[in-house]
Amino acid sequence: MASSLSFLATTASPFHHHHSRHPRKAARAPTHFSPSASGASTNATNASAYDIGGDKESILRLDRRNVLLGTLGGLYGAAALGRENTAVATPIGPPDLSKCKTAHAGTGAEDVKCCPPYKDNSEIVDYKFPTSSTPLRIRKPAHLLDADDLAKYEEAYRRMRALDKEDPWSLEQQARVHCQYCDGAYDQVGFNDVQLQVHFSWIFLPWHRYYIHFHERILGKLIGDDTFALPFWNWDSPDGMTIPPIFLKEGPLNDALRNPANLSRVVDYQYSPTTESPYTDEELKMKNLYQMNKTFRESLPLPELFLGDPVRAGEEASASKTMGQIESIHNAPHQFVGLPDAPFRDMGNLYSSGYDPLFYSHHSNVDRMWHIYRQKRGNKVDFNDPDWLNSSFIFFDENKQLVKVKVADCLNPLKLRYTYEDVELPWANSSIKKKQKAKAKPRSRVSLVEVSEFGPDPRPLDSTIRALVQRPKKSRTKGEKEDDVEVLVIDGIEIPDNGPVNFQVYVAAPYGGNFVGPDLGESAGNFLKLPHFHISKKGDAEKKKFSLKLGISNLIEEIDAEGSEKVVVSLVPKVGDVNIGGIHIDLIKTDWTA
Ligand code: C2O
Repeated sequence: MASSLSFLATTASPFHHHHSRHPRKAARAPTHFSPSASGASTNATNASAYDIGGDKESILRLDRRNVLLGTLGGLYGAAALGRENTAVATPIGPPDLSKCKTAHAGTGAEDVKCCPPYKDNSEIVDYKFPTSSTPLRIRKPAHLLDADDLAKYEEAYRRMRALDKEDPWSLEQQARVHCQYCDGAYDQVGFNDVQLQVHFSWIFLPWHRYYIHFHERILGKLIGDDTFALPFWNWDSPDGMTIPPIFLKEGPLNDALRNPANLSRVVDYQYSPTTESPYTDEELKMKNLYQMNKTFRESLPLPELFLGDPVRAGEEASASKTMGQIESIHNAPHQFVGLPDAPFRDMGNLYSSGYDPLFYSHHSNVDRMWHIYRQKRGNKVDFNDPDWLNSSFIFFDENKQLVKVKVADCLNPLKLRYTYEDVELPWANSSIKKKQKAKAKPRSRVSLVEVSEFGPDPRPLDSTIRALVQRPKKSRTKGEKEDDVEVLVIDGIEIPDNGPVNFQVYVAAPYGGNFVGPDLGESAGNFLKLPHFHISKKGDAEKKKFSLKLGISNLIEEIDAEGSEKVVVSLVPKVGDVNIGGIHIDLIKTDWTA
């Protein structure tokens, strides 16, 4: 049942209107699916294989009518002008390696010394990108790896593990890189006590792209194979949603510090180590596909929703920014694989993640998700902002040379000489649809709940918070939706310790007045954070807070709330002592800048 419809256009043509003052008059995208630039296929999968039955409540199924999810509007043709750039701001720069400090690993973990082997005379040069005549490394799904590729992969890690711990190529040093950039080992140059942090902001994806790029080249070098490519943990495909079996074999790909309960289970994109999942594996597969579908659909017009908010020099990403939804989703497999209790090693804690070879395969897929996201946007630049494009980092390359790289140079993986094997994107299938709730008026038996507004003061999220939230505008036209994304903002999120945090966000339409049914409505996304050190001295003093932004333009239509002035937002805590500052809804200009 190859669908002829897709909510995700991949051709560049509809977006060539960035000078238009009338973006809503822009040509509509074709509604047929066009193969993406790299040929990533979104062909429908065998729908019935994932049909888990429509008779149970609150579960997902495939809609055989092949109905479009949400609307096509809002995704196409909207050509916003570039954002205003703050004149005074500057890009995040690389750390001063000579000023590396002891890092703090979060709740339950000892302080860690994870500084790199660096001498004051170590030379740092601009990275020389591989020439276009070097072979293209083709990253493949880890659960489908053939025997030859597996043998090479294992051999590479066997050698990496055998190296001296001070060797920049060693797994120890590779893992430390992650710790350095996550847990306060560096201050930003020129800003004492402002942590250099590569999570929770728009540099999350590019920094990790470079990190695994060099890791991949080092592995290849160790086995003398310049075609070696990091297999990706294909957790966006139902068959790939368990830990790939190659990582469970005795041998160099294994890791002792994983949660034994989850070794053969399906990962939940909303995973929490403290809550027993009410879902079967088959239900989780559908739930995940739906969440990925929704993440792309809602965030395609507005990269900050996918990648995260800006962070600029002098700003503390670790405690004031919004992580993108792909980062939040990516935290779930981390938490799921790592040990379930403090200190949550290895994958479950940022400082220790890189000790597990699965980490790099996991990030290969995170990177792939970004690659696909960019293709779906016609490879438009995600943020046309010099502070993003010029953010720069330092890594050891495969020649043990310290090299400097910047974001602008990693946007096209071909420049880094790797790509991804085309595999199906089951979540991109337009027929994935959450079971619609019957629209009928509530039966008298259903007790309605009266909900009030959130109120002016912060509230502890110790049990579910339900609040009535005003929408900036009701009954938005198609054109208005193409111009502006409706964004649910949860702000002032205060996390008193450095442990894991997880809460879920749901949106429901009120039945009338201030009354809503007992059902929480549709999931809009989640806030999922791994344990790590997030408050430096300065951040602590200023009590900086996280926020969460979730696109809801399509969701509002799905729950038939377009005509409502208000919606009911529910926050459901899973883990972590969290305070919430407020909940509101914004309209944010779509961004299709070239
Ligand atoms: Cu740096 Cu998966 O995190």
